[in-house]
Amino acid sequence: MTAAGILGTGSGLPEKVITNLDLTQIVDTSDEWITTRTGIKERHRAAPEETTSTLCIQAAKKALKMAGLTPRDLDIIICATISPDMPLPSTAAIMQRELGAEPIMAFDLSAACSGFLFGVMVAEQFIRTRQARYILVAGAELLSRFLDYTDRSTCVLFGDGGAAAVVGPVEEPSGILAAEMHTDGHYADHLYIPAGGSARPASCETVRNREHFVKMRGNELFKIAVRSLEEVSRRVLAKAQICPNQLDLFIPHQANQRITNAVCERLGIPSEKVFSNIGRIGNTSSASIPLCLDECVRSGRIKKGDTVLMATFGAGVTWGGTLIRW
Ligand code: COA
Repeated sequence: MTAAGILGTGSGLPEKVITNLDLTQIVDTSDEWITTRTGIKERHRAAPEETTSTLCIQAAKKALKMAGLTPRDLDIIICATISPDMPLPSTAAIMQRELGAEPIMAFDLSAACSGFLFGVMVAEQFIRTRQARYILVAGAELLSRFLDYTDRSTCVLFGDGGAAAVVGPVEEPSGILAAEMHTDGHYADHLYIPAGGSARPASCETVRNREHFVKMRGNELFKIAVRSLEEVSRRVLAKAQICPNQLDLFIPHQANQRITNAVCERLGIPSEKVFSNIGRIGNTSSASIPLCLDECVRSGRIKKGDTVLMATFGAGVTWGGTLIRW
């Protein structure tokens, strides 16, 4: 069995920044409400010509460069997204073409905010069993295209962005130490886009009813998120026999600073060991964790030998945790 780790990371963030003040011009909200309830001050928004694949490709090129690889070295491309360029074909297929990769297996993975960690866990299996060597896992969303800018309870939360990581073989003791992922479809209607699929195909009526936009029961999700993130973090740490106080860094999904604070308090992880960029980036769903990871790696916040726990929660509901020794 070969250990799997992350060999390179990269980000693709749109240039345009939307501040809380900008949003007050569109919906009945305030900088004070958004900041105190979520920790978000600003988020990026894609330009009309940008798509999920363009952000993924920017991120992928940077991740490959860091890993010292070219697109032709890739064995698999996994694109975690719930806002693909189009329903068909996959965004991963567009990435394969635009990157100039060989005609390898490339597919999209739909697990909402947990998509990136789901993708890393899938990649790990191929690498451990030596069926693949280098796997690109991207997480990217253009949720601004699926937000209802008349619904203040959702439109202030999400931002656009993409990030990618090259997963490949590493020398132990580096690599993924433990991981586990979960889905519980009982909460499927807590965060969803009702129309545009086979259940409710697009029609004049669905457009008129604004059914192509994100709907969320935020208050209920908040409690499930705190509980799930705490539980999965404990389980993953226990699997690797590591205590929370042995962690060098905790990277939680950036959904709400209050969720992060509650989880860290329960786990006893001090704030200096917790990474947060929600103030600048908002909730970018599947891009959230890889964007954090890339920022930490490039700024030196993650160094070789560090023990890093990533934990995620999203629509489905889905959740999971991954512990890595860098
Ligand atoms: N600006 C001003 N007021 C707002 C607002 C906004 N942008 N959005 C909601 N409100 C109002 C509501 O209308 C409500 O008013 P009311 O009491 O008069 O009815 C009040 O604020 C409280 O709403 P509530 O939904 O209870 O707020 P909250 O403290 O739960 O915060 C979220 C809302 C969405 C920020 C929070 O619930 C959350 O982060 N949930 C989890 C999201 C999540 O984990 N998603 C899955 C992962 S992506």
